[in-house]
Amino acid sequence: MVSKTVIVTFGIASILFPTAAMAIEYVVGDASGWTIEYDYHAWAENKVFLVGDKLVFNYAPLYHNVLEVNSTAFERCIVPPNKEKFSTGNDEIVLVSPGNKWYICGVSGHCAAGQKLAITVQDKNPPTPSSSVHAIPFSGIQVFLAAIVVVVTIKL
Ligand SMILES: *[C@@H]1O[C@H](CO)[C@@H](O)[C@H](O)[C@H]1NC(C)=O
Repeated sequence: MVSKTVIVTFGIASILFPTAAMAIEYVVGDASGWTIEYDYHAWAENKVFLVGDKLVFNYAPLYHNVLEVNSTAFERCIVPPNKEKFSTGNDEIVLVSPGNKWYICGVSGHCAAGQKLAITVQDKNPPTPSSSVHAIPFSGIQVFLAAIVVVVTIKL
């Protein structure tokens, strides 16, 4: 009886939890990767980025790199000197805080050629959920109650 209860409870939780808690990994530019003459504004436009999600920048490391910059540097394509660069060609950047984030390529001329990405990162539980991707924010209490219902049902 106990083992059956545990299994069913786990089943319910695994149905509910991934939707609520799973971080999404976004490959910037999808198959095109991180490159010039790509519309990253259009790429980002219909996506919802939440704290805990991850950006993956794929590119040939001889030709590109990634810098996180401020809005001024983004708009004017200023490459900040002495700023730490990502340059592995497969950079994974976890979005650790909410707010606006700006990324450019630091290679001369590339930002101006469109190699720039601006995104807005939202808190995991935004006050006004607008996402269809991240929707269905089940709370812990709902999962708990669902588990209780299952347990009670089995015992009857
Ligand atoms: C933005 O970054 C540039 C380059 O690092 C820097 O010179 C400038 O002071 C920064 N602006 C703000 C508002 O932080």
